[in-house]
Amino acid sequence: AAYDAEGYTHFMRKEIHEQPAAVERALRGRLDGRFHTAHLGGLDLDPREARAIRRVKILGCGSAYYAGQVGAQLIEELARIPADAEPASEFRYRNPVVEADTLYIAVSQSGETYDTLAAVQELRRKGGRVLGVVNAVGSAIARECDGGVYLHAGPEIAVASTKAYTSTAVVFALLALHLGRIHDLSPADGRRIAEGLRALPGQIEEILRQEDRIAALAADLAKYRSMLFVGRVRGWPVAREGAQKLKEVSYIHAEAYPASELKHGPLALISPDLPAVAIVPDDELLDKNRSTLGEIRARHGRVITIGHTEAGEDAVVVPKNEPELDAILLPIPLQLLAYHAAVALGHDVDKPRNLAKSVTVD
Ligand code: G6P
Repeated sequence: AAYDAEGYTHFMRKEIHEQPAAVERALRGRLDGRFHTAHLGGLDLDPREARAIRRVKILGCGSAYYAGQVGAQLIEELARIPADAEPASEFRYRNPVVEADTLYIAVSQSGETYDTLAAVQELRRKGGRVLGVVNAVGSAIARECDGGVYLHAGPEIAVASTKAYTSTAVVFALLALHLGRIHDLSPADGRRIAEGLRALPGQIEEILRQEDRIAALAADLAKYRSMLFVGRVRGWPVAREGAQKLKEVSYIHAEAYPASELKHGPLALISPDLPAVAIVPDDELLDKNRSTLGEIRARHGRVITIGHTEAGEDAVVVPKNEPELDAILLPIPLQLLAYHAAVALGHDVDKPRNLAKSVTVD
């Protein structure tokens, strides 16, 4: 190979295993143990400006967009500011209304994705305030923004994003904590979230120790032609990212659907040939999710669960953290699932067909 994965078979696997260290770096020096908040040096938002934000709009492409959806949920939940994510590629074409009291955030690992850069430029032209959540220091998007936060994830070589995705979710948790403590998040809740964040690297290690089991499951799942990924609320962007990873590297068709919407359409597809990967954290929606699993099983669909409580051969259990942070740990088994399915099928994991690491043209 023209490149070297430094002792690992593939860069994708190396980068999956670098996640505990990448998360350490994303957190380093950013948690404030006195006021139970987060400090983000490149942000340049004083508390009065932060309080004046009425809405947050997050833009990115591919996995950066899904990580942005995690970020929007974190900001809305912890800071109680209405927030949503949209593909930058769509935003730039639909003549969006740009508001002065909306905070726009562009997400990009490479900092060079043309659609995201064009969205930032259009926003700036219309007087929008844009922050960057970017990995590559000094990249085009980082330079074009009014400030922002670097991931410090280190270089990501594999086309399918893993550590940059996780680091983005962590940076959004820091940003949500920061905005939350200026808005209505209590010191006690701030401390609880900060402690949850500090626990992440060790918990990621715990998930990685289950790699052999997940690899065996992936080798078995590689026989299917299509899979469904379902989740509710915090589990929904996780399901979308899981389906994206599987498609990108294994070429198995995967569709993500909100678990709550299954009965409004896709339930018609359920059969023994279409397994469902279900994101089932132990949160306030556990009972609802279990009844959805029951509906799938009643139609003889195989269910693979990623969560905290389910047990059995088709269950992957992740360590429990604060529920608000569930969308950070739950994707990690899905990265391993996609990676090992692709390996089982003999695909070029690091350079999947038809894809580029960053799409820098229009
Ligand atoms: C490409 C890659 C995706 C990536 C997306 C955004 O389409 O194939 O894996 O998520 O670009 O990349 P960025 O560098 O902006 O995060």
